[in-house]
Amino acid sequence: MTAPTKTPSVLLIVGGGIAAYKSLELIRLLRGAEIGVRTVLTEAGSRFVTPLSLAALSGEKVFQDLFSLTDETEMGHIELSRSADLVVVAPATADLLAKAAHGLANDLASTLLLASDKPILAAPAMNVRMWEHPATRRNHAQLATDGMKFIGPHEGPMACGEFGFGRMAEATEIFDAIGRFFARGSGQNGVLAGKRVVITAGPTHEPIDPVRFIANRSSGKQGYAIARAAHAAGAEVVLVSGPVDLPSPEGVHVLRVESARDMAAAVEDSLPCDIFIAAAAVADWRVARDHGEKIKKDGKGPPALKLVENPDILAEVSRRDRNRPALVVGFAAETEKLVEHARQKLARKGCDLIVANDVSASAGVMGGDENTMVIVTPEGETAWPKLSKDAAAARLIELTASLLLGERR
Ligand code: C5P
Repeated sequence: MTAPTKTPSVLLIVGGGIAAYKSLELIRLLRGAEIGVRTVLTEAGSRFVTPLSLAALSGEKVFQDLFSLTDETEMGHIELSRSADLVVVAPATADLLAKAAHGLANDLASTLLLASDKPILAAPAMNVRMWEHPATRRNHAQLATDGMKFIGPHEGPMACGEFGFGRMAEATEIFDAIGRFFARGSGQNGVLAGKRVVITAGPTHEPIDPVRFIANRSSGKQGYAIARAAHAAGAEVVLVSGPVDLPSPEGVHVLRVESARDMAAAVEDSLPCDIFIAAAAVADWRVARDHGEKIKKDGKGPPALKLVENPDILAEVSRRDRNRPALVVGFAAETEKLVEHARQKLARKGCDLIVANDVSASAGVMGGDENTMVIVTPEGETAWPKLSKDAAAARLIELTASLLLGERR
């Protein structure tokens, strides 16, 4: 006998926006797909749809009040925040996003968002000016780095008569995204299905002569883990790998290269793509002269090796006019002043996000199986806890997917 599969369930938070009517349709679609829905209605949300509509469609009690004695005795808010597999916020108003970005917890919806240990998918809906306001831009970017996933908003005519970004995604789209979440990792249904991701990994070897080279301690493990995670999320993945001792990830197109110049050429050949992730520890310099023969000890002392700069692959991809990937991610391996140096690198290279990690010997990142990442974007930085390189890769891929898919601009 096969074990019964648990029915997937969603906690749907309905905020106060005209788009709340779409959430009624979403509940209907979820119920039709045998996905359980428990709803939370904010005070503002109740001005647009009634608790009775939500209760009738979901077949469940509607939660509205953080301080309700009856609700708290039946199901406390902490339990409610953990009760579903996925939390969906639709409509996610500017106010709800602002509260969540700042960790406020002054009503039931914001408290649940803060207390939840489950993934959160938000469908923003607001006037175009509100969506484009720097405060909302900051909150959106902060929440994306914190791990919140977004769907929409889209461009179009709005209820207020204006035109622009701010229309909530349609119920069917949100329903599909929820479906993809429950089928996560299953290739074609993954969050990056239909997207192309190019990743560099490992060190480069810069020849001194035919037998000697300059190298570094990069193992390639993090870049390979990112390639596996991107593939698991349904992307078409090209991994441009320097010399490492790792097997090619299944389903990933691997281009093996030696030097920085080979890596730059392979990346160029792999464009265009949607996301470029430069995880390789590319050698900054190479030996200027091409020594065709092994350099001999000739009794005149060690040879003077003149070094010249290698192409900066990340900066070149970031600054392309044509075929610039929608999202460019760099890494900053630092031994001191982690965030300060990463932030300088973000500006210097022109990329969208820098993953900073401490590679001082005591951190054990180089060659190790764990990584502690700090995500640095123009809006701010977020420190992630110490994770296995696989878990860090999965989280990074989720973040890049939500940045890519949430900001269709
Ligand atoms: O300048 P730095 O090497 O510290 O920057 C690190 C980031 O830049 C990494 O993402 C690395 O993959 C990328 N990089 C590159 N080409 C270089 C040097 C670094 O793509 N020549």
